[in-house]
Amino acid sequence: MTAIVGADHEFHDPEYAADWAERFEPTPDRLALFDLMLAELRGRVPPDGRIVELGVGPGYLAAHLLDALPAARYQGLDFSRPMLDIAARRLRRHADRAAFTQTDLLADGWWKALEGPVDAIVSTWALHDLGGQHEVEHVYTGCARVLGSRGLLLNGDFIKPDGALQEYEPGRFPIATHLDLLRRVGFETAECLRVFEAELEAPTPAQNYACFRAERPPVIVPQSHRREPA
Ligand SMILES: C[S@@+](CC[C@H](N)C(=O)[O-])C[C@H]1O[C@@H](n2cnc3c(N)ncnc32)[C@H](O)[C@@H]1O
Repeated sequence: MTAIVGADHEFHDPEYAADWAERFEPTPDRLALFDLMLAELRGRVPPDGRIVELGVGPGYLAAHLLDALPAARYQGLDFSRPMLDIAARRLRRHADRAAFTQTDLLADGWWKALEGPVDAIVSTWALHDLGGQHEVEHVYTGCARVLGSRGLLLNGDFIKPDGALQEYEPGRFPIATHLDLLRRVGFETAECLRVFEAELEAPTPAQNYACFRAERPPVIVPQSHRREPA
């Protein structure tokens, strides 16, 4: 039988979540993904901007971003209470500007859990766990709804590489499909910034992930609606 590249998780189990969090400590490759996202956010989001993360997990990306962006405000969503508790402990030093919300991203209207206008949405290694293209499109659709003019989405996630020799779980699909979905739901620009830990011959479930960047179109305010300075 052909092995399928993928993994099953028990993120609602406190022991599993704690053990997984220890095993998933960021490697240099994973930190390079965080740094790429940080560079994108620095260029695009105001210093006190609002950043939302989908699938907080143990909070490694959140800690990386909040340590580097001293005025940014953060809201992390996850459906796992144990993971949210681990992340909240890790981010205790940023408690005045970090909020955690238990939400299932598969629920209708998941974005209603967001607290106000959002400048950027980030996610790492989470959306592939939702099931497949349809579920990722549901989440991309919500992102397009909440991000305003030139709002930024950065998704770093496992993919099925072009030329794959193995079967991959349905949540890991090609880069071109991600880009099609992003454009279809209303992002103006959608691109793959970089692929990390590319491996075709004998991939582990922790290899082959890409960073997607998508931006909402600018909202043009008609001349007649512009307020003249007093
Ligand atoms: C790999 S972890 C995220 C790691 C995190 N980005 C970091 O850097 O520490 C993926 C997370 O997605 C969450 N997740 C999976 N399916 C979800 C769903 N349907 N709704 C909300 N969160 C979900 C899991 O509970 C898990 O905490």
